Amino acid sequence: MSNKLFGNKKDKKKQGTTMSLSDKSKFAIVESYKVARTNIMFSLSAAHKKIFAVTSYSKGEGKSTVSANLAISFSKMEKRVLLIDSDLRRPNVHNIFKVDNSQGLSNIIGNMVSFDDAVKHNVLTNLDILTSGTIPPNPSELMCSTTFIDLVKRLQDEYDYIIFDTPPIGVVADALLLKDLIAGFVVVVRERSTTHGDLQKLLDSIKLADSKAIGLLEVGCSYDSKRRKKGYYYYQYY
Ligand SMILES: Nc1ncnc2c1ncn2[C@@H]1O[C@H](COP(=O)(O)OP(=O)(O)OP(=O)(O)O)[C@@H](O)[C@H]1O
Ligand SMILES: [Mg+2]
Repeated sequence: MSNKLFGNKKDKKKQGTTMSLSDKSKFAIVESYKVARTNIMFSLSAAHKKIFAVTSYSKGEGKSTVSANLAISFSKMEKRVLLIDSDLRRPNVHNIFKVDNSQGLSNIIGNMVSFDDAVKHNVLTNLDILTSGTIPPNPSELMCSTTFIDLVKRLQDEYDYIIFDTPPIGVVADALLLKDLIAGFVVVVRERSTTHGDLQKLLDSIKLADSKAIGLLEVGCSYDSKRRKKGYYYYQYY
């Protein structure tokens, strides 16, 4: 599946990513995400939870792009959706939607700002976004805090769906800290990049944490070996 951002004409202006796809491919992408959405919804209803996280084993496999596209897809069902950037080390959601990131999740957990002051309402119709906020020195600690847990529990009454973008599990285990708050993980694998070994290790980690994978999303995109060689995806806090 290609996973560029999609939307209708009305939404275009607000989106951070250009829509360079042809009508035909746009239709295919929208349909692919609808299929993914339907399958995720079945898993969520079985789990009686409407919160899930998007993750992958390695960096740069497409987690943030998939999180954004799924959030858009869910919001098009007239449901209230919140996308939270819980990658407190190398956040990207604010870049995708071109919104300010001076106040966000880390600042709320640090009691510096309220949720209402930090959240970006209706970035697209029915879609609110909570960006990462200031990059903290102790992301894992923040995500274990009762402030964070209480926040998520409160938000699940306010939204129909909550989606977390996360850092890669093979690099840092932050995503697994969400396990008790979510129905499970949507796993992203990238064509010609994710190996079978990586995927197995990721699924093992999720199982070991007593959580589950509720979907596997393959993004078929060209692998940019030059960027990798240059260390483009270097995470300084890892
Ligand atoms: N289907 C695709 N085709 C081509 N390029 C893509 C595709 N999906 C994502 N990309 C590009 O790959 C890069 C990484 O995407 P993204 O930031 O979504 O990955 P990530 O897994 O969230 O990365 P990180 O581990 O750094 O958080 C971005 O430059 C994005 O534009
Ligand atoms: Mg990302």
